[in-house]
Amino acid sequence: MTSEYRHIPVLLPECIDALELPDHPVFVDATLGFAGHSFEAAKALGAEGLLIGIDQDEVALTEAAAKLETIPEDARPELALLRGNFGDLDDLLASCEIPGIDATLFDLGVSSVQIDTQSRGFSFKENGPLDMRMDPGKQTLTAEEIVNTYNAADLTRIIRSYSDEKWASRIADFIVKARAEAPIEESGQLVDVIKAAIPASARRAGGHPAKRTFQALRIEVNSELTVLRRGLDAAVRWLNPGGIIAVISYHSLEDRIVKDTFASFADRCTCPPDIPVCVCGKQPVLDLITRKPLLPSAEEIERNPRSRSAKLRVARKR
Ligand SMILES: C[S@@+](CC[C@H](N)C(=O)[O-])C[C@H]1O[C@@H](n2cnc3c(N)ncnc32)[C@H](O)[C@@H]1O
Repeated sequence: MTSEYRHIPVLLPECIDALELPDHPVFVDATLGFAGHSFEAAKALGAEGLLIGIDQDEVALTEAAAKLETIPEDARPELALLRGNFGDLDDLLASCEIPGIDATLFDLGVSSVQIDTQSRGFSFKENGPLDMRMDPGKQTLTAEEIVNTYNAADLTRIIRSYSDEKWASRIADFIVKARAEAPIEESGQLVDVIKAAIPASARRAGGHPAKRTFQALRIEVNSELTVLRRGLDAAVRWLNPGGIIAVISYHSLEDRIVKDTFASFADRCTCPPDIPVCVCGKQPVLDLITRKPLLPSAEEIERNPRSRSAKLRVARKR
């Protein structure tokens, strides 16, 4: 990785331990990023393994390839690095012509590099164009379009439901008023509108006042919750018996989807309790390895503050 790009992998030893890679030679990193996890995974897999790395971000894929290729060829697994969305995991894995996979990791969200690249517009701390597309080559909807065209009701709905922002409807009203004067094109303009919408006393608590609205816009631009459900569902179907799925999430909406998806695959009978014999015939598909999510240590949070909200859940296919 060039010094220009820096992303510190989160919960790295915990993930590598959980994935049991030497026994699980076909590994899918569904969010390759800068290969922080995959670099260690590749070393654990060795030359007998296959590492399939997926990312929708072209810069990440190029950097990840360069990093993985520094591992000597005789110690490196076969690499298949694919540009795409893990919401299309079925098609991506079908293109690899493999019967199944042994382990997979989803390290959700954006990388530090994406956040720190001003032109991507993910950060509320730096001024930049309101973009937020993870795959600008394929996606057309931008945060700018949402902010300037959604009506107040739709803005309120996405801000409230994708971020739990208490002031969602006030922020939506302030956005609609501000854009009637001039289009909101830059993240700095939007931050100012959000700050004006949230009363000063409320602004002092709960971190940066624009953090939640920016999260909501990013989720809407990238359909993050929909593709997460699709990706997890496909990953569990592709896992071989005994295979491991590990997911790191960074906010409560993601974590709830991971928890509920794992729970629904781990559930036995779902018949109502008053039915004397099971009629649904549902068999569990996953065993939960982490009943409670693993969290970063205080030392990791100190070293890498962006790990603060991480939660790792792991399950094994039956
Ligand atoms: C937190 S970073 C992963 C960092 C990586 N584990 C590392 O340590 O270098 C998340 C990555 O997933 C990618 N990503 C997010 N959602 C995606 C999706 N639906 N499909 C494919 N890639 C996605 C982002 O582009 C980003 O590079």
